[in-house]
Amino acid sequence: MFSHIPSFAGDPIFELGNACRRDPRADKVDLTVGLYYDEDGRIPVLQCVKQAEALLAQQERPRTYLPIEGLESYRLAVQRLVLGADSPALNEQRVATIQSVGGTGALKVGADFLHAAYPDSAVWISDPAWDNHFAIFSGAGIATHRYPYYDPATHGVRFDAMMDALATLPARSIVLLHPCCHNPSGADLTAEQWGALIALMRRGGLIPFLDLAYQGFGQGLDEDALAVRLLAESGMAYLVANSFSKNFSFYGERCGGLSVVCEQAAHVPAVLGQLIAIVRRIYSNPPVHGAQVIARVLGDPELNRLWRDEVAAMRARIRSMRGQAVEQLADKAPDYPARYLLAHQGMFSLTGLRPEQILMLRERHAVYLLDSGRICLPGLNTRNVGLFTDALADVLMRTAPETHA
Ligand code: LMR
Repeated sequence: MFSHIPSFAGDPIFELGNACRRDPRADKVDLTVGLYYDEDGRIPVLQCVKQAEALLAQQERPRTYLPIEGLESYRLAVQRLVLGADSPALNEQRVATIQSVGGTGALKVGADFLHAAYPDSAVWISDPAWDNHFAIFSGAGIATHRYPYYDPATHGVRFDAMMDALATLPARSIVLLHPCCHNPSGADLTAEQWGALIALMRRGGLIPFLDLAYQGFGQGLDEDALAVRLLAESGMAYLVANSFSKNFSFYGERCGGLSVVCEQAAHVPAVLGQLIAIVRRIYSNPPVHGAQVIARVLGDPELNRLWRDEVAAMRARIRSMRGQAVEQLADKAPDYPARYLLAHQGMFSLTGLRPEQILMLRERHAVYLLDSGRICLPGLNTRNVGLFTDALADVLMRTAPETHA
């Protein structure tokens, strides 16, 4: 019956993480999957989460079904966090929000919604991208294309080329954007560039779809949502998928949100209704526990403050690892232009290393990065950053110098 089923090569990100875990070498360095590790190399359980869970544990909590759209207090907290408490879009009641199964679940529901609303629309995704963006949108029946984004020569954004490409798109095209901490490159747009891009998308009648997976890991919780908020001020319709995987260290709880910002409040009931219909036919309704914890933390002034401090500490640690790596590489590999690491935001940077250099790092030194050359900075700590910079210097020395621009 199933002899014709093609095999699956495995997910390129999670497979490499598994390969690193299987590697018996004690001093291996895992820079693969987008996970935040603390200074001791552990996935933290945040203090605010422990306190909220302790409070929740004192209550009897029957595990009944949540509404299809999710826990109401969670959905309202998502709106305030993502759009800002004083958002014009919230004041005008122009936003339909559902609790989603992680950020990926929000992207899937959003893609199904857009395909039903605009069956002829295609999506444009940054080059390079998080590969799963292509799979999610093509899985929803939407044609996928790339727009120029990252320039390996400058380690920055090819903003003019990006604008030129997006200026040619037909109205109702979907544009997938990372408001902060671009995955995989780490290169973000400036506030001015966001302003120009939003004006262009508005003129062209395009549909922005923001994937906000790393809020708080770039400049700050509010700063990282700048694009979401500029779009709200523009009055345009757009979508935002947000995730609590990273900023709550809540990966396996699968907590996210999808917010569809409408041009008019009158459109919200029908939009929310369609989101509910889509969720009902995929997974019926979302899980309870993580949403209750997050709603508790975000809704309690003291726990909310604690959470903001914990996010700030994670952000500062990532920044400090970037700084330590750059400092060490200046000594160990002075020809490698490592300072781009300081210009990048969030968990990731593209190193520009070639496939054979990446393989050599893995085989000779047990330093694991993705085949694209992406490194996940929080995999570094003060104990292993020296291993990483020694390994990189060794590989650069053994391979042709002009190849790592
Ligand atoms: C990553 O890019 O490594 C993370 O976002 C994890 C994932 O789901 O791919």
